[in-house]
Amino acid sequence: MPQPERSAAFEIVEALLTVEIYNRIQKLTEADLPPDIRDRFLDGELGGVRRPILIGVEDIRTICQVDNIESIVADLPFLRLDEGTSLITFTEFDPGATWFAGQDALEAIQSNPVLAHYFSKFDPDVSYPEARVVNQSILARQKGLHARIEKLYGEEAESLLKLVSIKTPEEVRNSLEDLVLTSDQSEEIAKAGKALEHRQYLKSIGLHEIGKILFVGPPGTGKTTSARALSRWFMLPLVEVRLSMIISAFLGETAKNIDSVFMLAKKLNPCILFIDEFDFVAKSRASDDHGAIKRAVNTLLKAIDDISLVEDGVLLIAATNYPQLLDHAAWRRFDKVMSFSVPDDDMRCRILTKVLEKIDAELDVAELAKKTEGFTGSDLRLVVREAVLNALLQDRKRLTQADLLRAVAQFDKRNAEHRQGNNVQA
Ligand SMILES: Nc1ncnc2c1ncn2[C@@H]1O[C@H](COP(=O)(O)OP(=O)(O)O)[C@@H](O)[C@H]1O
Ligand SMILES: [Mg+2]
Repeated sequence: MPQPERSAAFEIVEALLTVEIYNRIQKLTEADLPPDIRDRFLDGELGGVRRPILIGVEDIRTICQVDNIESIVADLPFLRLDEGTSLITFTEFDPGATWFAGQDALEAIQSNPVLAHYFSKFDPDVSYPEARVVNQSILARQKGLHARIEKLYGEEAESLLKLVSIKTPEEVRNSLEDLVLTSDQSEEIAKAGKALEHRQYLKSIGLHEIGKILFVGPPGTGKTTSARALSRWFMLPLVEVRLSMIISAFLGETAKNIDSVFMLAKKLNPCILFIDEFDFVAKSRASDDHGAIKRAVNTLLKAIDDISLVEDGVLLIAATNYPQLLDHAAWRRFDKVMSFSVPDDDMRCRILTKVLEKIDAELDVAELAKKTEGFTGSDLRLVVREAVLNALLQDRKRLTQADLLRAVAQFDKRNAEHRQGNNVQA
């Protein structure tokens, strides 16, 4: 039976071992630290955790939520508390690690990547990669995420959350499986995944220009959906911003807003920072020469320069429907442009097949694909939705080719009217 005293000692030693191992092994990143320790030592400016971590009585009190720290430390022969600085250190590391391992520590080790990295040398049941997955999902879980934001920002959390939408991977409803991607797109996604996984390696070889992707393409081609689905795919929290919201009516606030959002992403790392409506930058530039807007845009471009996948663990994705509005200064910030085109015949076939997957129907999808030239993925989804609703009006759940052809015709007609309406206005 664990005595309360012993479990406090256990937690204290766990925190101290974690810090000591983190200090020794450069390869470990702040994402390997358990959330409590990480938040305690996160450097606001740096967005990371600086080495060496010096840990004292107050830190332990916050991290472990225990009392009597001084007397517990005094009872453990391998620890030392410096009376002057209140810092706690190991007098001898190995006996400390051995003591810890002897306390039924397996479960704790398996969810703490730093400890797992060390103890995997001695215990085949311990895996560093698996502990990382456990730790990431703890970091990512909603309660944890919101609690961490409150903890990091206190009273300012609320106003910050008005600028961004923050979701855990579990909360994101879009999934890559629901999207039809080109092989180029799939390859780029796989590369981004590898870059995330091997950040330390990329850093060590000096490859920094990586992890800023611009999604470009007409409306309805899956840009927003893809960015969100990547959160689920990579199991990373998603910080989503609309530029129109951070470039606020109160222009004086804008630079501050931009900095807050980027800082938040750095603190939540690893995560995805998704900036939708990126062309807003260009539009506001073109619309007038208002100095404040210029300053805001420059702040944004600088913030993009200052964030890095390799250093900060933030994958930056921006999306725009109007790439022609972006100037060179904006383009060159991205190391990758991923284009989303209006789907060709083959891709329309695949999208229709996917969208119709769960629907009871006997159809000639190839014919539908031929009749829907110029339709985007979004259009095709709307067509299928209309067909389903029309059939339901007739109390049918089984779709026929005629249902879909009719929905296509309706869609075409509405589009034509819409275009005409626009012309009249113009
Ligand atoms: N390639 C595709 N495969 C499957 N669905 C798609 C595809 N492109 C778009 N869609 C669907 O169309 C809708 C709108 O897509 P969205 O991501 O908002 O487009 P965008 O951001 O490019 O305007 C979503 O429901 C999405 O699932
Ligand atoms: Mg979009």
